[in-house]
Amino acid sequence: MMACQDWPEPVIRVQALAESGLTTIPERFIKPKSQRVTDYATHSSSTQPKFSDTDINIPVIDMKHLYGGEEGQRAEALHRVAEACREWGFFQVVNHGVNHELMKGAREVWREFFHQPIEVKEKFANTPLTYEGYGSRLGVKKGAILDWSDYFFLHYMPCSLRDQTKWPNLPTSLRNEIDEYGEEVVKLGGRVLEILSVNLGLRQDFLLNAFGGEKDLGACLRVNFYPKCPQPDLTMGLSSHSDPGGMTILLPDENVSGLQVRRGDDWITVKPMPNAFIINIGDQIQVLSNAIYKSIEHRVIVNSDKDRVSLAFFYNPRSDIPIQPAKELVTEDRPALYPPKTFDEYRLYIRTRGPNGKAQVESLISKCDSN
Ligand code: OGA
Ligand code: NI
Repeated sequence: MMACQDWPEPVIRVQALAESGLTTIPERFIKPKSQRVTDYATHSSSTQPKFSDTDINIPVIDMKHLYGGEEGQRAEALHRVAEACREWGFFQVVNHGVNHELMKGAREVWREFFHQPIEVKEKFANTPLTYEGYGSRLGVKKGAILDWSDYFFLHYMPCSLRDQTKWPNLPTSLRNEIDEYGEEVVKLGGRVLEILSVNLGLRQDFLLNAFGGEKDLGACLRVNFYPKCPQPDLTMGLSSHSDPGGMTILLPDENVSGLQVRRGDDWITVKPMPNAFIINIGDQIQVLSNAIYKSIEHRVIVNSDKDRVSLAFFYNPRSDIPIQPAKELVTEDRPALYPPKTFDEYRLYIRTRGPNGKAQVESLISKCDSN
């Protein structure tokens, strides 16, 4: 398939649109009813949408129990991570070892980037060829209904793809800050992969090796900027999707919630703990675990009076090694649910099928013969 060189129509910067002070949103951003928030409380004076499920949250794991703590506590924490991966596909971690100031700094430096004059940002405008840079849409379908967000996408690993000249240099500290942040988050990702491997009954280094090892694995950063929106009940900050890669480590906005996770027929709004990361299983770990761990659909809602910034760090397998269910997890009772596919092949496969919520990894199942 030929990759598209450019966008099919002029790009609309959502932040500029929001800052123009419009009171109704353009039709291009209005989602069909089935894809909107159904219980968006008629937004009184509150800054946050209200939901009926206010007490439910994704599991919170205190990572200090996983290291050096008492054995009983470690077993309990491991068990809670396993349960979260099986049942939620999502959890948040505290005491994860990443410096809190570094987290705050990374978020603030990106917030500053999005508040630079438009000319500064446009210098980094991306194209659908690689998506690297400053962008406002995914996909090249002409006339598609768009999400209410802008983003910046960059490659951090492998080193051969890391090109700092493609990263913003305003504010001036940004490149250094992202380098340091990336290093710490990659380390955290390694620790989490070990925990997941052990929980699956595999060797501690199984998942990291399956990803190609620490030098070759892929890691990219997508910084999302969700501007405030005059009609948040008609649109979506980010449409429902599952993450195609291995695992995502998300640094959410500390003040504004918006991420929703699918739980059966409900959408649960994540309430981030202070200084926490939100971690979710991507499609590739669903495949490697033979669907014991779930890559769950999620989406982002917007609100009428606060911008929201989030940093999604995607931790992916090297793009050219076949990913398939671990042999140890394939039995007569539970045959391999997925045929081997490299991450490159998988991305191509979902691109040609078009984004379709979580149907991506599910639709692979039927393609697997009894091999
Ligand atoms: C993503 C994502 C969630 C958020 O970038 O894939 O799901 O809260 N982001 O921004
Ligand atoms: Ni996502």
